[in-house]
Amino acid sequence: MPYNWIDASQYSMNTLLLFDRWVLEYLLSTRAEDGQESEQYLALAGRALAAHPQVRWYCRIKAPATRGFIERAMSLVPPTLSAAEARQAEIAFLQRHETFVVYAYPEAMNQVNYIRDWDPKWLDELIDLSGMVVLDVGAGTGRLSLAAAHKALRVYASEPCDVLRDFLRDEVRRRGLTNVRVLDGLVTSLPFEDATLDAVLSGHVVGDDYDAEIAEMRRITKPGGWLVICNGDDDFRRTGPDAELLARGFESFVHTSPSGGIIYNYRLRVQPG
Ligand SMILES: C[S@@+](CC[C@H](N)C(=O)[O-])C[C@H]1O[C@@H](n2cnc3c(N)ncnc32)[C@H](O)[C@@H]1O
Repeated sequence: MPYNWIDASQYSMNTLLLFDRWVLEYLLSTRAEDGQESEQYLALAGRALAAHPQVRWYCRIKAPATRGFIERAMSLVPPTLSAAEARQAEIAFLQRHETFVVYAYPEAMNQVNYIRDWDPKWLDELIDLSGMVVLDVGAGTGRLSLAAAHKALRVYASEPCDVLRDFLRDEVRRRGLTNVRVLDGLVTSLPFEDATLDAVLSGHVVGDDYDAEIAEMRRITKPGGWLVICNGDDDFRRTGPDAELLARGFESFVHTSPSGGIIYNYRLRVQPG
């Protein structure tokens, strides 16, 4: 179901030139279709890429794993494809992947309701970060990292998108924060030794593979430390807390956002042993 975070007709396929390998590997693979490579999705991708040899070149070089998909997609492009049909496919492709498109445009991402309508006091209600060494996983434009920086001793902000890391570094500098470090890292492979952090935060990151993601976040958290999942607005879709998180021992907290969204947040104390 579309969120309508963007109007894709305003965006170009050159957006793909701003993506990291892991994003291209997702978009140009069967994973974008829940593991099913359908003719329909291949045909859409082929039409969307048809007028963009530079984008195909970039994807092949940056993400070699996409080469087979691109070849199969291009083989389905009809020789009669018009410029208007190609543009229609580009818009459909970009709209379908709007949650990724915003990663390339941090200002647009900051206008999405889960960031725009979020109140930093909801993080304070979950945890007192005073004096703590904290990691924000999948930091994005810094919704949680920048809020955490006011109390925590040190904040590490890990973010796998290069554009967002640069945006966040600029923002940290602009705000004169000296206790925030921005770095790369996926939630399933974080660049920290075991048991080194007092709290690991995340927002809208956990959920593709709960066991692997939570295990990695626990690994780097000190015994007695905290895992905090602090979401923003969720497009009014939640009717209760995430059962997967409750089953793994998280406590849940509920808020209503200024625009009426029901927001569930979570925390878990990491037990020794
Ligand atoms: C929906 S945004 C949320 C951004 C930020 N945490 C917030 O709540 O405002 C998801 C973020 O997680 C990052 N991300 C996506 N997949 C990830 C993964 N497997 N590991 C770590 N971060 C990931 C994205 O690059 C993006 O910045």
